Amino acid sequence: MSHLWTSEALVAAMDGRPVGRLPEGVSGISIDTRTLRPGEAFFAIRGDKFDGHDFATAAMAAGAELLVVSEARLPSLGRMAMPMIVVPDVLAALEQTGAAARARTRAKVIAVTGSAGKTTTKEAMRHVLSSVGKVHASDKSFNNHWGVPLTLARMPEDCDYAIFEIGMNHPGEIRPLVKLVRPHIAVVTLIAAAHLGHFKSLDEIARAKAEIFEGVEPGGHALINRDDPRFKLLDKAARAAGVAHVWGFGENNRAQFRLMKYKPQPDSSAIAARIDGQDICAKVGAPGRHMAQNALAVLGAAHLAGADLAKVALALSGIEAERGRGRRHTLVASAGTFTLIDESYNANPASMKAAIELLDATPVGPGGRRIAVLGDMLELGSHSARLHGALAEIIAQTNTDMVFLAGPEMKTLAEALPVDFHAEYRPGVEELQALVLKTVRAGDAVMVKSSNGIGFSRIVDALAKAFPAARNAA
Ligand SMILES: Nc1ncnc2c1ncn2[C@@H]1O[C@H](COP(=O)(O)OP(=O)(O)O)[C@@H](O)[C@H]1O
Ligand SMILES: [Mg+2]
Repeated sequence: MSHLWTSEALVAAMDGRPVGRLPEGVSGISIDTRTLRPGEAFFAIRGDKFDGHDFATAAMAAGAELLVVSEARLPSLGRMAMPMIVVPDVLAALEQTGAAARARTRAKVIAVTGSAGKTTTKEAMRHVLSSVGKVHASDKSFNNHWGVPLTLARMPEDCDYAIFEIGMNHPGEIRPLVKLVRPHIAVVTLIAAAHLGHFKSLDEIARAKAEIFEGVEPGGHALINRDDPRFKLLDKAARAAGVAHVWGFGENNRAQFRLMKYKPQPDSSAIAARIDGQDICAKVGAPGRHMAQNALAVLGAAHLAGADLAKVALALSGIEAERGRGRRHTLVASAGTFTLIDESYNANPASMKAAIELLDATPVGPGGRRIAVLGDMLELGSHSARLHGALAEIIAQTNTDMVFLAGPEMKTLAEALPVDFHAEYRPGVEELQALVLKTVRAGDAVMVKSSNGIGFSRIVDALAKAFPAARNAA
């Protein structure tokens, strides 16, 4: 079996001190004993709640091949019969391993940031680029101070494309991460009020996202949403950071990667795009205008990475919405089926708008209604009430028939909706869940969305439990 890392290379990368008889190599890197697979190296990093050193025995039991531990904690582990590499700081060792992985790869490296759509875009890139080469990409939303170095350290030597999600809650967080990643292509999906609690304005958020340009390789590319009101700010920041080529994607006629036509279909969309002068028609497997936008970023990045656009465009049809990020279920009610759209993973003003418009574009059956089940958008600080109230206007522009709301902030929206609009407000998730279960019927389209912390995934689970999934959902 080929190793991800030989022990020799690991020791060299982190300049560590080997203790015990090290194996020839390891098959992977883990920082979590619950997901560790036999043969992997366990890095005992300290998280927010736990210290990995307390899980050394668990790592051994799970089949770890070796442990990376800190000098300071070694005395407490001393009698473990496990090969170890001892370092001053385990997180720093993970970063050094990541830097070594970056140094040895010949892959085209893509980094994705933005206020919404990072994971969706990253997964779409993973999917389409897999049709033209070997791809490595971040697991889930592993986009922070440990997620990025972990993803780097896990990068196999022989991959052709590597895609990294990079996120932030505060200014200064992206800079050190992107300097580790050193992307050839840096993508900014969009700027919106997410984690606005930590920022004074959207400009400030944009400037923090723009840190991603500071790590772009010489001769590299910035790929920015051309339709975003902060395009100019980002464009300027990219040039100031010395990025050689700045590109725009979107509907704006100055976008080099331009969405020319968008046609929603029940479960997908058809798009026409012009990619750096080349005309392309494609089916995008996940519906919604925001997915078409993401697809433009995907096509643009693939083009800049030198991938065969015809193959990539074809693969777009196979994209599926992720769990909690627009995944659809066709469920059976007594007289027929209804559509459930699961958007319960995340919510901020940009993704809320996208999801309300997605529901609007979803067909309903005879007698069916479009029902938006909405919970609080968290972390909006002093802007929260205004941003929740502003959803009323977006809803008014759509064919939404009913709005079901829960959570302290959604009270503002309940009050902002016109009095003759069918809106139901319940303070708690449980009460709202009971109401939703009682209300849905055949023909409906139901979209459930809130910030993860509000727990609306429970409503999705309850619906999926109460109503069986239809076979051959068309
Ligand atoms: N381009 C986009 N514009 C607005 N919302 C989007 C976009 N792409 C995805 N979304 C929605 O945003 C939410 C979060 O998506 P995700 O990809 O997990 O974002 P992130 O990784 O940036 O947190 C999902 O509900 C998803 O459907
Ligand atoms: Mg994410």
